[in-house]
Amino acid sequence: MSNTVSHINLDVDEIRKDFPILNREINGKPLIYFDNAATSQTPKQVIDVIVDYYSNYNANIHRGVHTLSQEATDLYEAARLKIQKHFNTKHSYEVILTSGTTHGINLVANGFSTLLKKNDEVLVSALEHHSNIVPWQMLCERTGASLKVIPMNEHGELIMSEYETLLSERTKLVFVNHISNALGTINPIEQIIKKAHDVGAAVLVDGAQSCPHIKPDVQALDVDFYVTSAHKMCGPTGIGMLYGKEEWLNKLPPYQGGGEMIDEVTFEKTTYAELPHKFEAGTPNICGGIAFGAAVDYMNTIGFDAIAAYEYELLNYATNKLTQIEGLKIYGTAKEKTSVISFNIEGIHPYDIGTILDKMGIAVRTGHHCAQPIMDFFKIPGTVRASFAFYNTKTEIDTLVEGVKKAKLMLS
Ligand code: ALA
Repeated sequence: MSNTVSHINLDVDEIRKDFPILNREINGKPLIYFDNAATSQTPKQVIDVIVDYYSNYNANIHRGVHTLSQEATDLYEAARLKIQKHFNTKHSYEVILTSGTTHGINLVANGFSTLLKKNDEVLVSALEHHSNIVPWQMLCERTGASLKVIPMNEHGELIMSEYETLLSERTKLVFVNHISNALGTINPIEQIIKKAHDVGAAVLVDGAQSCPHIKPDVQALDVDFYVTSAHKMCGPTGIGMLYGKEEWLNKLPPYQGGGEMIDEVTFEKTTYAELPHKFEAGTPNICGGIAFGAAVDYMNTIGFDAIAAYEYELLNYATNKLTQIEGLKIYGTAKEKTSVISFNIEGIHPYDIGTILDKMGIAVRTGHHCAQPIMDFFKIPGTVRASFAFYNTKTEIDTLVEGVKKAKLMLS
């Protein structure tokens, strides 16, 4: 079957040639990679940039007068500008390069230790990954603020009327993911941000799962903080972005002390560097930053409208096929949803299904997906999660469906 989807303008057969790993065999079978929500695969355009960096430009940045250091600095700062343009931040210094989403969230949570007080409230959604729960619990322990939860319904959608009830002049911060990693729900962040701002609260959006599928415009969203990881969007691991509005980043204290984040150091007192360096202590992941810029370029060349349309088609195709399997239940049936399907088969542990699928070369994630409260809500230990990217195909989904049927027969 040809995987060219003409009305969507995406030549998937051509795109697949960009990903060397898709030629691999696993357990004697062609790899079918459906664990994209955990990490995406890396195209040769990004791999080439990594090889080129270490072959030709490797040096420390922002500190050498020598040519190599200046070239590496230029490449790193050019990547920051690409990221600025992609997310449409007002200033390039509002882009803080982090080690990933978790780092960005912890940086903000740590900073708010100095801004929150007892009886303040922070709201977190019921759909969060542990990385957007635990740092805020730690913040509440430090400050005496309390954590309230925006509940969800059986479809895995946030209950907006409950959100409005929870908001008050005590609310100082709201944390929500743009897209749930466990269920694929796309949250109505525009509305969430607007309502939070109406009571004077700031909003942090975890964009780890949205950035592979859509192109967020942080100024149009008017979001206060937006965090993501490059490895979810065809970049390497160990690098990500924290966007913060300039006025917020100026209010927050540095997260880590060290080289590069200072203006002047004496044993009596240290003054800090301007943004973004105030939050970028130590030698950063230089190659990772440059490769993040290359990943942003790559994804924009494919085009986010085409990506979203194609992945939506994959989601519908897989949902229709999987739901025909007797005893299979999909968790997360939100109206607004991206290409993530979490499911279980009655009476069978997700781990066992994942293990059998792996024997067939099919990579899915099993377990609680670092979102235990969601599993508790559904009263299940975990799910099998298949998450699709723009380089996946309907033929691969057919193989998954056959694999799930076989696993069911073997395990029933
Ligand atoms: N947060 C990643 C996932 O959902 C690791 O799999």
